[in-house]
Amino acid sequence: MPGSSRLPISLRDTLRAQSGAARGRLLALNIDVFRNIIFFLFLLRWTRRAFYQLRGRGVAGSIVDAYVAARRTLYGIFLRLPGVRTKVQTQIAESLLKLERRLVPTGPGVERTVALPTEGWSEDRVRAALQTMEGMEHTRWEDGRVSGAVYHGGEALLRLQTEAFGKFTVANPIHPDVFPGVRKMEAEVVAMVLSLFNAPEGAAGVTTSGGTESILMACLSARQKAFVERGVTEPEMILPETAHTAFRKAAEYFKIKIHLVACKAPHYKVHLPSVSRLINPNTILLVGSAPNFPHGIIDDISGLSRLALRKKLPLHVDCCLGSFLVPLLAKAGFETEPFDFRLKGVTSISCDTHKYGFAPKGNSTVLYRSDALRKYQYFICADWSGGVYASPSIAGSRPGALIAGCWASLVQQGESGYVDSCHKIVGAAKKIESTIREDPNLATDLKVIGRPLVSVVAFLSNSLDIYDVADGMGEKGWHLNALQNPPAIHVAVTLPIVVAADKLISDLVEVVEEVREKERKRVAEGKGKKGAVKGDAAALYGVAGSLPNKSVVVDLAKGFLDTLYKA
Ligand SMILES: *Cc1c(COP(=O)(O)O)cnc(C)c1O
Ligand SMILES: *[C@@H]1O[C@H](CO)[C@@H](O)[C@H](O)[C@H]1NC(C)=O
Ligand SMILES: *[C@@H]1O[C@H](CO)[C@@H](O)[C@H](O)[C@H]1NC(C)=O
Repeated sequence: MPGSSRLPISLRDTLRAQSGAARGRLLALNIDVFRNIIFFLFLLRWTRRAFYQLRGRGVAGSIVDAYVAARRTLYGIFLRLPGVRTKVQTQIAESLLKLERRLVPTGPGVERTVALPTEGWSEDRVRAALQTMEGMEHTRWEDGRVSGAVYHGGEALLRLQTEAFGKFTVANPIHPDVFPGVRKMEAEVVAMVLSLFNAPEGAAGVTTSGGTESILMACLSARQKAFVERGVTEPEMILPETAHTAFRKAAEYFKIKIHLVACKAPHYKVHLPSVSRLINPNTILLVGSAPNFPHGIIDDISGLSRLALRKKLPLHVDCCLGSFLVPLLAKAGFETEPFDFRLKGVTSISCDTHKYGFAPKGNSTVLYRSDALRKYQYFICADWSGGVYASPSIAGSRPGALIAGCWASLVQQGESGYVDSCHKIVGAAKKIESTIREDPNLATDLKVIGRPLVSVVAFLSNSLDIYDVADGMGEKGWHLNALQNPPAIHVAVTLPIVVAADKLISDLVEVVEEVREKERKRVAEGKGKKGAVKGDAAALYGVAGSLPNKSVVVDLAKGFLDTLYKA
């Protein structure tokens, strides 16, 4: 009977062994194929990366990037050499000590409270102490000496806000049933801002604790959208280099890679072809400012919007600073550029009610073209033992008092109030700008950056050290903002500055003359740049700013933050 059982034992074994070997070979083959696939994917991934890097930054750009990175690493190593390191650290410590002496009052007359008083103070004592704190020596914002920073809308509004606070001190919008009025006011604030920015039907928004949180939320929403809808796990966003640092903070917090795009002279607007080249499948968000903080320039939002539509990407417009000025430029009779939801590609906008909305500090809004975009920023936890938890943004409990203060400011000012302020503020900025351009005492040495349309006027100098000008203004009691890349300073006009604008101009004329004189003397005495005695801004931005690796600046800044918490 034929059958396998009749095969000689040895043949059967051979066959079995062979099929075993075949199976083994198959396995080996499978592992090989598998390994090849992995290798191929790895290769693909890196070629894709290299391709997008090369397309995004070009060959020359990539070489420059590599050079900058190498210089930074080498300088970092140099800074860590034994001798250098101790020297640098001593110098940092010295600078921080100086800073501390200036910021933290000491001496026998200073009362310091570093633990709870065993017995609570009397109300009168608390009031007296508050009075002292308020009266501490400071840069006089009250006299319009501070650029930006204080955006209040006048004494009467401040009183009204304080009253509103008083009524809602305990309120917390996390409990809408307990504080229905607060919920209503918050919803109305969002609705008012949406209408100011010409939001379409179906648009939505939330309130936040400030511009930074608004920007963080917009970036988070874009990241979640890309993850859910396109499976993007290595998100990237493209920023004008002048975009607010809050975007870089978002990148750090939410692990988003950033590409910075230059905003070059003479327009200082983001360079659109560079933005376009940097777009790749990992891109989650494009960004423009209206206007940006450093130079007060409005990016080409129309161009960005077209690009965003074409590439089907979200576009965030940062109107934190523009807030209640930029939407009202036309109504106040000034030149303007398109920037809001009327541009179809704009998907989100951040607008600070606490800047030119004159709301109490700690208030901003972020607006979305659709409710779906807003939902991407929500945090929901359905299975917490504390109950189902939902909150719209970063904070949990939130101050109802601030909402009341914000709502009161908006309805008290009304459109006419904000148009009026826009008139004054932008009018003063234009006056400062045109004086710098036209006054022969200033025009020879100072140069306005771009064509600012809103409240910020930034200027640089090709002949003088602009930081010496900043320090000179500092000595006269002004606090202007020092900028870098390129070295410049700016003034962000607020209502208090409107009144002081003429003084600012005349002081600027004097300071520029002084710096010119100093410069002439220095040249006459044949001293190099190093010979000059430098003020704070000049020291920080002039010397440390030119270093290839900014770790010294980082250490100084960390020390500065620590100093803020020295009692
Ligand atoms: C002020 C500002 C912000 C946000 O700042 P916050 O201090 O967090 O309110 C964002 N963008 C621009 C252009 C700003 O000027
Ligand atoms: C810059 O220098 C610091 C300190 O020496 C170093 O830790 C850091 O890695 C350097 N940065 C870069 C990008 O190399
Ligand atoms: C005001 O600020 C608080 C946080 O500081 C925020 O919770 C609230 O929603 C803001 N309200 C408005 C109206 O902007």
